[in-house]
Amino acid sequence: MDYSGLFSSNMPLPVEMPVGLQADTKYVFSVTYADKGVFPTEGLIESLSKVIRNEGTTLSQYPPPQGHLGMRELIAGTLATQRGAPTNPESIFLSSGAGGAIGAILDVFIDPGDVVFLEEFSYLGTLKMLLERGADVRHVPTDENGMDTDALDRMIGEAIAEGAKPKMIYTISVYQNPMGVTLSYDRRRHMVEIAQKHGVPIFENESYADFRIDGDPLPPAMLGMDDTDSVMYVSAYTKLMGCGLRLGYGVVPDPVKESLQKIRFGGAPSHLAAMGVYQYLTDNREEYITDVASSLRDSRDAMLGALDRHFPSNTSWSKPDGGMMLWVELPEGADTLAALPAAVEADVKYNPGPVFRAERDCANFLRLTYSHNSPEEIGEGIEILADVFKREGLFG
Ligand SMILES: Cc1ncc(COP(=O)(O)O)c(C=O)c1O
Repeated sequence: MDYSGLFSSNMPLPVEMPVGLQADTKYVFSVTYADKGVFPTEGLIESLSKVIRNEGTTLSQYPPPQGHLGMRELIAGTLATQRGAPTNPESIFLSSGAGGAIGAILDVFIDPGDVVFLEEFSYLGTLKMLLERGADVRHVPTDENGMDTDALDRMIGEAIAEGAKPKMIYTISVYQNPMGVTLSYDRRRHMVEIAQKHGVPIFENESYADFRIDGDPLPPAMLGMDDTDSVMYVSAYTKLMGCGLRLGYGVVPDPVKESLQKIRFGGAPSHLAAMGVYQYLTDNREEYITDVASSLRDSRDAMLGALDRHFPSNTSWSKPDGGMMLWVELPEGADTLAALPAAVEADVKYNPGPVFRAERDCANFLRLTYSHNSPEEIGEGIEILADVFKREGLFG
């Protein structure tokens, strides 16, 4: 068969990713896997048997278009009590991970050339989806309080003045990926005002809201601060209950729901996964979240300690109070993209800074995740990584 003339001419634009990220290594500092140290194998088995006994026959049919109702009610309850954002299960749709909801929403918004505002560095999966769709991605300066909303306001004004079409403000507002920062309360208010003023919706990604380790309580979600349908929201249970379960969700206002219904609802994720997570979290949520936080605290502290011991004083890194990652800055001129193959060869992977930038620049930054390896392994892996960086000349 000759396939060469058969492929679609509408395929997404290719966006290159470093090949090393696909390699198998012992020390995985490049993926925010769920914490396997506290993975609730027995609890999940119990929950699955209980829920299959209660409602297993529903598996004989297709799930409801927006996904398991009990799960959506649980999400609505959690958003109201934990994130200050009361919402209706009818506005929620389950998806294959947060990524599934992000892709669906981008499909109904993004035309080539549309402007989208992101933090200074942003989650590589969404960035890739935006670049594949030909979006004009603009990174907004970001500091320890999250996206600089004065700069955002100015940049939206500039885009409008150029005649461009700003489509959304995409923000990872909690323990931001990759920088680890949380958008402050005042900036949340300001961002909602900006969205309303310019008619540009916020797309709020709270994938890490369940992972507070210590520090101040989180400010409420912007979803609950707005009463003009200006905020869309996405999150997932992948990082909490297992990436393999592929369970995420989106919350959208009615007009967006209507557009999504035309192209996407009906593709709810595995009903069995939703049933299992629903039952497990109904019975165990608080206790499990506390266990995960305590395990992540040990891993984070192991990574911070190892960096202190092995990285030189001309390097610096974030000290996050939640989430699963550290953001590291090396001296100007260091090339973390070029050094990745040598690290992989030494059994360690990490994310080079450029994968979080539309322009693929800022190679002297990297992201290190701490949710997969044990604290001991984290210590070993960071020591190996420091040796590789020293050998490759990244420490200057
Ligand atoms: C901010 C953010 N959004 C979305 C995702 C995609 O997650 P999922 O596996 O739930 O599709 C990730 C995964 O790392 C993420 O960090």
